[in-house]
Amino acid sequence: MGAERTLQNLHAAYAGESKAQVRNRLFAEIAEREGYRQIGRLFRAVAEAENVHARNALVLLGELKSTEENLRTAFENEILAKNQFYPRFIREAEEDGHGEAARKFAQARDVEERHSQLYRRALSYLVNEEEVEYFVCQVCGYVAEGDPPEHCPICGALKKHFQKVS
Ligand code: FE2
Ligand code: FE2
Ligand code: FE2
Repeated sequence: MGAERTLQNLHAAYAGESKAQVRNRLFAEIAEREGYRQIGRLFRAVAEAENVHARNALVLLGELKSTEENLRTAFENEILAKNQFYPRFIREAEEDGHGEAARKFAQARDVEERHSQLYRRALSYLVNEEEVEYFVCQVCGYVAEGDPPEHCPICGALKKHFQKVS
């Protein structure tokens, strides 16, 4: 009983700390846009700290496995997002007349499809490693290989919106 409760709390800590991290990074961008460099730095520092808390909770949840298993989990999560979560989110946003949310959900669904393909293909790199650079569209999350495209195939963003992954 007690162990069950702690497991739930670990899930809650993982979710909450992950959200706080993303939120703080956006707060940092806003602070910097408004000219508050030091406050931007503070938001980033605390975001890094929340990342540590999120990681600690995830480690204790025991969901981290070998790379082969992690790739399968990552693949399955993308399939779930593209086939189950986003289709419902899109339908409900449309029913609610929230066009912007419906469009963003639809882009995300298409990008998840792309992510799933990349993961499926990566399973073969386990035996036959291939070196390739990745670039992420900062508007929709599309992942390009090799070189960023002139226009994002999902959202149409220009090449300059692609960020290289180190
Ligand atoms: Fe925290
Ligand atoms: Fe994804
Ligand atoms: Fe995009």
